[in-house]
Amino acid sequence: MQHTISLAPLQGFTDYIFRKVYNNYFTDIDKFYSPYIRLSNDKTIKKSQIRDILPENNKNINLIPQILVNNSTDFIFLSNYLFDFGYKEINWNLGCPYPMVAKRNLGAGLLEYPEKINEILETIINKIPNKLSIKMRLGNKNIDDIDKIISDLNNYNLSDLIIHPRIATQLYKGNPDLNKFAEVLNTSSNKITYNGDIKDISTFNKLENEYQNINNWMIGRGILANPFLASQIKKTDNLSADLKKEQFYNFHDSLFNEIENSLSGSSHILTKMTNYWEYFSLSFTNSHKVFKRIKKTSTIEKYKSAVNHNFSEENLNI
Ligand SMILES: Cc1cc2nc3c(=O)[nH]c(=O)nc-3n(C[C@H](O)[C@H](O)[C@H](O)COP(=O)(O)O)c2cc1C
Repeated sequence: MQHTISLAPLQGFTDYIFRKVYNNYFTDIDKFYSPYIRLSNDKTIKKSQIRDILPENNKNINLIPQILVNNSTDFIFLSNYLFDFGYKEINWNLGCPYPMVAKRNLGAGLLEYPEKINEILETIINKIPNKLSIKMRLGNKNIDDIDKIISDLNNYNLSDLIIHPRIATQLYKGNPDLNKFAEVLNTSSNKITYNGDIKDISTFNKLENEYQNINNWMIGRGILANPFLASQIKKTDNLSADLKKEQFYNFHDSLFNEIENSLSGSSHILTKMTNYWEYFSLSFTNSHKVFKRIKKTSTIEKYKSAVNHNFSEENLNI
């Protein structure tokens, strides 16, 4: 079966710089989702969020921008704003679990109010110029929040319904609820994409076997940890261990250079790169040591030497 693989939006990680560099080195991601953009209280959009979706920063990337909204006025405004940049599809975030967001009935916080979701959709669906997909969790505090929503969503022709089968209060803890996901799959007439904890090829193989009707997969942290994962799933990965390391090294080098040029101050650069290494290190056999070596660096020079050490002395496990 031909699989479609999307890169999940990960605020702080999968920004336009990462997407651009990743896409230069790895070619098996079909769709990229931007981390959410939203209107602040004064109805403006943060400069960094605008920069992230500007077409000139997303050349050759199939980008679907994501919005975080809880009312139809903002929804329509942001849809048109994005359409004017050429985005023919947008994604509605109904999954963000963080209390600061959810408590304000945004993201997964809205999942407790199916009638509100339906009311917003009824209002916007014929007014927005873009196709619409939704990314959601099973619920805010309860896995059954999704039941009513799924039946309402059957009245709309979504371009995609991406489900991360956890509830918001779990954040990223515990396991995705695969039984509830299977139940949802049976009741949805919209095309479903599975998202959650595809961390390696064996996890993917199990899910593929379990859900034979699904051929759309969204992966976030698994791709950060193993940038070859999409090509492994698509079976286009044919590099020897040495070439793989070389490609990973070059990818890192390019990412580092772009980040160094975009941020000012070595501590910002080191923090950003160390955050990536929390994931990159998982691709190495001695992941703990590999991460520790990066984490303790305090200058760019020491960082570069730790990176060289990791790539020259340590083995990949992917
Ligand atoms: C640091 C971080 C930032 C995230 N930012 C977003 C976001 O902006 N929008 C969104 O829909 N999901 C966001 N997510 C959730 C991911 O898109 C994804 O649903 C989740 O990580 C599960 O998939 P994975 O196990 O493949 O990473 C974020 C997750 C993490 C860990």
